[in-house]
Amino acid sequence: MLPSWDSECEKRAKEILYRCMEELQATKAALYLEGSEGTFELATSYGFGRRDALAAALPLGHPLLDWARRNRTGPAYVNTPQEFPALQPLLEGALTSRLMTIPLTLAGRMVGLVDARDKSRRAAFAPGDVSVARGIAGALERFVAERGGALLTAGGPLEDLGLPPVAPPAAALPHRWIVEDLTALVRSLARLPEVAAAVLTITDGRSARALALHATALDPQHQGAVAAHQARAFLASGVKAPPAETWGWDSQPSGGRATRAEEIRTEVLMAGPPVAVALSLVTPAGATSAGPVFAAAAHDLELARLLRDYRRAARNLARVLLEPGETAFPHLRQHSQATSEISQRMAAVLRLPEDQDELITVAAYLHDVGMRELDYARVYRLERPGEPEQRLYHRHPVVGARIVEASEFPGDLAGAIRHHHERWDGGGYPQHLAGRSIPLASRIIHLAEVYDVLTSPASYRRQLPRDAALDVIGAEAGRQFDPELVPALAEAIRS
Ligand SMILES: [Fe+2]
Ligand SMILES: [Fe+2]
Repeated sequence: MLPSWDSECEKRAKEILYRCMEELQATKAALYLEGSEGTFELATSYGFGRRDALAAALPLGHPLLDWARRNRTGPAYVNTPQEFPALQPLLEGALTSRLMTIPLTLAGRMVGLVDARDKSRRAAFAPGDVSVARGIAGALERFVAERGGALLTAGGPLEDLGLPPVAPPAAALPHRWIVEDLTALVRSLARLPEVAAAVLTITDGRSARALALHATALDPQHQGAVAAHQARAFLASGVKAPPAETWGWDSQPSGGRATRAEEIRTEVLMAGPPVAVALSLVTPAGATSAGPVFAAAAHDLELARLLRDYRRAARNLARVLLEPGETAFPHLRQHSQATSEISQRMAAVLRLPEDQDELITVAAYLHDVGMRELDYARVYRLERPGEPEQRLYHRHPVVGARIVEASEFPGDLAGAIRHHHERWDGGGYPQHLAGRSIPLASRIIHLAEVYDVLTSPASYRRQLPRDAALDVIGAEAGRQFDPELVPALAEAIRS
């Protein structure tokens, strides 16, 4: 047990970790902090299921700790287990292949590490994730420093480290997805008449990357002028950026009509920390298009920020909704989390659009929320429930739908929950819907939750290994389950 690691402390660390996960788009993350005798202890984690067999401590010689120590100077990742054979058994056992470690360092000493796994939509970790991870390390290092007197068991008092004051974690993390969104917007704006080029530059203070979308190609002299303009704008906004000569440049045609490149206008759209974003427009002299472009970019940025805040709030509310049921039956959260995770992976395999993906993720998390109104602990665990218990149990999808109905969540959240026990052949409940008249989200959730029940050690059934569970489900394709979705489950589980 880590010294002074109380529940309040864990709650805050978990919050930071959750935000990290969003920034990195990793579906699981664990924070380990230095304990005694070189062992790193699990401080908090997010998104891991039973199958991941998350280690409670990493003693010296543990492959994950070895990997992190080898890469102690910065975040490092593997996308296939073969890249670091010592990690192979751990990754294969956890049915994963993509892992990133983020070392936390104070006063030159590694005091913790983050184990982040499985980016959403099965994406591989890429060099761009490293700078995001550095921002995450900064936020967590500040947090550890704040708790430091207790955590740095062999270290001196914190004051001696000369650490900067602690910034609130929410403000301290990068907004990678906002930057992605902004890039998409700039791509379309760069095609407007009178725009010779639009240059979007992102910096975390240590490195900077410029994306130039051009109707008129920028020669090195033009590039230098834009970079100098942006460097001055960063400086004026109090942003620390590396020297312009060191910036990386990506240059792509914008698809717009070529025009004279005579004037540069620049605005800093985000001033960080830890990332800052500047946008420059290169136009003919006296062009009037720059103003509306900057206004649209600022508006889009604000909307994107809001959307993310609402999405996070919705997920947090879903967690709160589940709490009463959890007290009666602690397995509920684990089952809900696993069902949500598997459903989300299926949505990725099926390449569903983002709004459906979000609906399925939240609906899967809440699919059994109706249980909180029932005598859950008793009913759910009965091996041979009698008729009254079955009637009671069969009400939970309807009760759940009613609980979320008033939320007006975008899309049919209540419908997805109401029908998660319908069968493809019409033999399910509560409305005996069949085939495609069952909402797609419900068909996905049904598969995901049955898979979890079959493979969970906490289930009332005998626990089955992965392939046996998939065989059981496969045998019911076209009867209990949508036959077209069964392969998507198998792919989601095996990937
Ligand atoms: Fe369930
Ligand atoms: Fe259910």
